[in-house]
Amino acid sequence: MRRLFRVLHAITPNGGGTVGLALVGSAVFLYALLEWLILTGDLGNMTTGMVLYLVVPVVFGAGLAAIGGGLWWSWRRSALSPRRWAASRFGEELLAPATWGSALALITAAGAIASLAFLGGSSARMLHFMEQPAFCGTACHTVMEPEWVAWHGSAHAGVACVECHVGEGIKGLAVSKIHGSWELISVTLDLYERPIPAPVASLPATDETCGRCHVAEADHGVKVVERVRYGLDEASTPTRSQLALDVSPRGVHWHTAHRVRFASVDDAREVVLWAESERADGAVRRFTREGGRGASAEVREMDCVDCHARTGHRFATAEETVDRLLTDGRVDRRLPWIKALALDALQDSWPSEEAAMRGIERELWGSYQRSHPQQLPELGPAIDQAVAALQGAYRQGTFREVGVSWGTHQDLIGHPARGQGCFRCHQEKLVDEAGQPVPFACDTCHTLRAWDAPLASGLVPEGMPSLATSAEPAL
Ligand code: HEC
Ligand code: HEC
Ligand code: HEC
Ligand code: HEC
Ligand code: HEC
Repeated sequence: MRRLFRVLHAITPNGGGTVGLALVGSAVFLYALLEWLILTGDLGNMTTGMVLYLVVPVVFGAGLAAIGGGLWWSWRRSALSPRRWAASRFGEELLAPATWGSALALITAAGAIASLAFLGGSSARMLHFMEQPAFCGTACHTVMEPEWVAWHGSAHAGVACVECHVGEGIKGLAVSKIHGSWELISVTLDLYERPIPAPVASLPATDETCGRCHVAEADHGVKVVERVRYGLDEASTPTRSQLALDVSPRGVHWHTAHRVRFASVDDAREVVLWAESERADGAVRRFTREGGRGASAEVREMDCVDCHARTGHRFATAEETVDRLLTDGRVDRRLPWIKALALDALQDSWPSEEAAMRGIERELWGSYQRSHPQQLPELGPAIDQAVAALQGAYRQGTFREVGVSWGTHQDLIGHPARGQGCFRCHQEKLVDEAGQPVPFACDTCHTLRAWDAPLASGLVPEGMPSLATSAEPAL
């Protein structure tokens, strides 16, 4: 004990050493306290985690450096030989040779091992902590909020961000840490792009990510897709489309069993300059857009994310959002012109979230006050309900600080409202040498059973609450 105090006293010859010792001491104390609070469940939020795993090790390291610096400075100033200087600071007793080395050497070694164990242990805990979706989604505050919110509502809500964003093994980890460090710097210095662009180039190969859970060439059978849309007329008339997709390598998953390379003008992969398919016998068929051959471009081998770009965090368009609210009955279709009004209210360019909340309410109430003053008492509850539903949808769909709003991140699949989906390649402008286009006849990919067909009154598609069959609209 006495020796320990002697060492502690000896390593604080000046301000540097004292500050260093204080830093190391408080880092260890803080770590023990916070880790204990987390383990007992009393604390467990992101801020604690950030302090614990990012700040504490840095403070600890800085403390060690300050102690080392202080000792070095004291030796330099003493103008003695290292041995004599050590003897003058620590005393001959600690330097006396013994079986296992001098007491000072033993204490130094023990200190080094303890420091390494502390740093190693906290780094391991830090890596674990940084793999949690909550870290990716909320640690940098608003930056990834759109993805964080959309992820919660996706089929992959149980799949951690790192399962798709970090590849396998040491290489995957290293690549992600390099990108992650840059992200931290760019967020701190506010250098990042808004909205955050698709990280296609740095995304690992999909057999390392999606392949962890999905079998590429699996036969998913025939999937029937049913869509109900509402018109912009007074009655917000619903129509339905129904199609059957063969989700197997013989159908829409043809690509999972065939190689296709393509070049697009940028990472968004919206404008395709050429695409080529490779047959089993190795023969290549190239389809080129007029003038697309010479242009500089990103070349990619097509994989899962060239179609399923947003499967981890899909953003609905404003139109889809309103359609869904109408189908769920959270916005009552008996309100006249409600689809058109709701769409306008969601898409207006409100200057702030509070302005949007007030604006949505004002727009809806205002327009019914003007158009249906007599029926207001009757309509009131439905208007209030619609206002609340739209305000909620606005908050889930627009993130002004990071430049994400309706349609910023579009789909690459099917025929999305914005962008071209499969038609990026399957269209008349991309032709092979014989002038044949990539096939785009409607039955190449699906059987259309109904296409914007009227929804006869009383006929309600599966899963849709029977608003249409309830009493004729009283309005
Ligand atoms: C199922 C796989 C998957 C999961 C889970 C996933 N992502 Fe993604 N993410 C992707 C793919 C694929 C892209 C690239 C989109 C593209 O190619 O356009 C992407 C793109 C992004 C982008 C760029 C902006 C954008 O939306 O395109 C951010 C930011 C992002 N992800 C953050 C997250 C966060 C945070 C989580 C966890 C809360 C997460 N991701 C979970 C697959 C996933
Ligand atoms: C850790 C496992 C895991 C990983 C990694 C993963 N998925 Fe999934 N995926 C699932 C699970 C679980 C479901 C949900 C199945 C269900 O709900 O029936 C799912 C559902 C899906 C669906 C259907 C639902 C939807 O959103 O349309 C698609 C498409 C899909 N995954 C594609 C991908 C792609 C593409 C990747 C890689 C970028 C990927 N998955 C990575 C586990 C995973
Ligand atoms: C050429 C575009 C394309 C590529 C490439 C592609 N898919 Fe798909 N995938 C589709 C379409 C289209 C559907 C069905 C329609 C839908 O769900 O919107 C689908 C459906 C799925 C489903 C859901 C099946 C179900 O029962 O709902 C899963 C899972 C899936 N794909 C995984 C993958 C994985 C994993 C890869 C990469 C190996 C991949 N897909 C590559 C277009 C593609
Ligand atoms: C980057 C370009 C590109 C995109 C995007 C793309 N495809 Fe293709 N697709 C091709 C090429 C090239 C072929 C091969 C045509 C050939 O060689 O006959 C092909 C072939 C196919 C075939 C086989 C056609 C046949 O003749 O049997 C199907 C089915 C298919 N694609 C479905 C889809 C679906 C569904 C999507 C959207 C989810 C999609 N593709 C998106 C380039 C693309
Ligand atoms: C290259 C493949 C491909 C071709 C060619 C194609 N489609 Fe599709 N289409 C899809 C896929 C994939 C979906 C499903 C997307 C989804 O689940 O949202 C779809 C969905 C649809 C839908 C319903 C979804 C909606 O948003 O309304 C309609 C309607 C439709 N297609 C019409 C057509 C018509 C008409 C043609 C011919 C001009 C055509 N498609 C050609 C791949 C294709």
